[in-house]
Amino acid sequence: MSSVPPIAFSAKARRTAEQPISYLIAVAKANPQLISFAAGLVDPLTLPTEETLAIAQRILSDKDRARDALQYGTTVGYKPLRDAIVRHLEQLEGKPAAAMSISADNVVLTTGSQQALYILADILLDPGDIVIIESPSYFVYAGALSSFGARIIGVPMDRDGMAVEELDKLLHRLESHGELPRVKAIYCQSYFQNPTGLTLSLPRRPRLVEIARKYSRQHRILIIEDAAYRELLYDGEALPSIKSFDPTNSMVASCYTFDKPFAAGIKTGYAVLPPDVAREFTEQKGNHDFGSSHLCQQIAYEALADGSYSRHLTELHDAYRAKRDVMLAAMEKYMPAHPQVQWTTASGGLYVWLSLPLAVNTSRNGGMFDRALGEGVMYVPGEYCFQPDEHGHVPQNHMRLCYAVTPIEQIETGIERLASIVRRALVPAEPARAAQDSLTL
Ligand SMILES: Cc1ncc(COP(=O)(O)O)c(C=O)c1O
Repeated sequence: MSSVPPIAFSAKARRTAEQPISYLIAVAKANPQLISFAAGLVDPLTLPTEETLAIAQRILSDKDRARDALQYGTTVGYKPLRDAIVRHLEQLEGKPAAAMSISADNVVLTTGSQQALYILADILLDPGDIVIIESPSYFVYAGALSSFGARIIGVPMDRDGMAVEELDKLLHRLESHGELPRVKAIYCQSYFQNPTGLTLSLPRRPRLVEIARKYSRQHRILIIEDAAYRELLYDGEALPSIKSFDPTNSMVASCYTFDKPFAAGIKTGYAVLPPDVAREFTEQKGNHDFGSSHLCQQIAYEALADGSYSRHLTELHDAYRAKRDVMLAAMEKYMPAHPQVQWTTASGGLYVWLSLPLAVNTSRNGGMFDRALGEGVMYVPGEYCFQPDEHGHVPQNHMRLCYAVTPIEQIETGIERLASIVRRALVPAEPARAAQDSLTL
């Protein structure tokens, strides 16, 4: 290769960094003894193998049906599934789709909700455009936004999710600096956020729409609602979506998935979009792949239609609830009692977010991460989930713990190991001081 000149990769390719999760997954794979709370994969034991086999047999044993399923579909997606999704959303929201100005025309099937998020970034962003996200947030999407050259600005969170009044102040500041024309989107995970497990509270949902509308002066600032974890609700109240507070279907693009609540391997998601966004989105998707897997969409359709989706969800809830409870009980039992050792206790999703005193460094190169690996346990360093502030500073005193994929009988041992490492990292003489980072729980 030394005699040939380098490939001239695009600016976008050069802006694209490897996702940190790839490294974490590789470490876990190379060390099968490791108790990994890192990867946000789904629980392999809960995957709907029998239901999917029955559905696949039903689709493929009928020659005409099989030929249809194995043929290309349309770019927007399988019409019976889009209709079924509208009915499904009506059930989730407890109101007719017409009250949200939604029909099957506003639903586009995608290859996982990740593709929906990606295409939204693709149709909205030019380099230098601003996207506002929660701080901390889903690092895979932050990476994708960076690859488009977006300027990502974080808004702090508290126990009620994104601090929407801080968002209001931020938008006000951006407007007074003449930067409002660059603000294209607000990305918000409305349920059991990755990485914190926090949920946007009910009163903040309409307020978020109101704020986006207020600052939509020359153009609409689109709310990208990521509802990937919506249906992973184990106890507590089911909340209406942000989109349900957008009766004219103009301010919110919502992204959903069948991967978390059913089977990640069908990699099928969908976006519910305002009409103008749906048009642009579909054109872009036509360039990406002119349609997601037709077979997988038909599997998702059958699962919704024959009730196996909802039966499976009940099983999934039981399995994840049990794992979450074991993790939280172990945290109570083993984590040192210290005013700045705090963690979230979500009623759904896959994550616990552990916050430690500022002096404790959980980062990849901070020592604790390698100590944890050495003692057979792995976490996601919280640093990946934040955007650097104006001084380039990223909080390094958090960790994300995922209970989904770890066998239930290993969770307590894993937390015991982690707690012992945390205890040793606490500096006893350090005076208690208020956490100064962007997630004060
Ligand atoms: C917050 C969030 N959104 C979206 C996704 C994308 O998932 P999928 O493409 O499987 O639907 C994930 C995956 O982990 C996620 O955590």
